[in-house]
Amino acid sequence: MIDLHCHILPGIDDGAQTVDDSIALLESQYKQGVKNIIFTPHFHIRSISIDDFIGVREKSYEKLCSDPRFGKYDIKFKKGCEIYFSNKLMDKDVEPLCFEGTSYLLIEFSTRERPYGMRTTLLDFINRGLTPVLAHVERYPYFERDPEQLCELVEAGCVAQVNADAVLEGKGSMAYKYLKWGIARVVCSDCHSVDKRPSNLRAAYDYIDKKLGYEYVRSINSTGMAIFDDRYVDIPVVHHPKKVLGFWV
Ligand SMILES: [Fe+2]
Repeated sequence: MIDLHCHILPGIDDGAQTVDDSIALLESQYKQGVKNIIFTPHFHIRSISIDDFIGVREKSYEKLCSDPRFGKYDIKFKKGCEIYFSNKLMDKDVEPLCFEGTSYLLIEFSTRERPYGMRTTLLDFINRGLTPVLAHVERYPYFERDPEQLCELVEAGCVAQVNADAVLEGKGSMAYKYLKWGIARVVCSDCHSVDKRPSNLRAAYDYIDKKLGYEYVRSINSTGMAIFDDRYVDIPVVHHPKKVLGFWV
């Protein structure tokens, strides 16, 4: 399994606070069979400059790498971040924020209202040769009210990601539906700590295998691996949901 969204680096955001916390999360991921991880601490342009963030992230990464326990994990690691969307990003060189050695960047949005300039800024990234990965798309009420808005972004070249925990909420959840409709292509842990927000990737994969079938698991893995290796991800043929008796189907 591949995890492109997690908060494992120590002392940099609301995820792991200490190296011990980081090792506990890594141990859990390793036991579940995760073989590739991208570390994605939160980045907010209003709080810190891109250069300063890269410096802080490097220090945190070095702290984790210097712990003797880190070396025992047969996992490939890359650095990345989870960018909080701002239309101010349009004028910025955001390439240093991409997943290491790739043209993919993970972006989250306000969970209250659709941010001003969202589509324009995402299309600007795509025009610059970058691919936005939209973090936990199940969380945004504006997409839930009108999934066509999300379909449009995915058909323009964005990749939609859902969280493992949200998929495990079952068939009625938007995460499950986005996967079933072919709109969401990757499932990530978004883990923060082993106690409060653990990684449930294995359980989510098993659930998807059981309910949607192995083809979905295979596709999620191959899409995740393509992103990790900076290969092209095809624009999917998605199901455009219709509202029937108050429910999107
Ligand atoms: Fe996150």
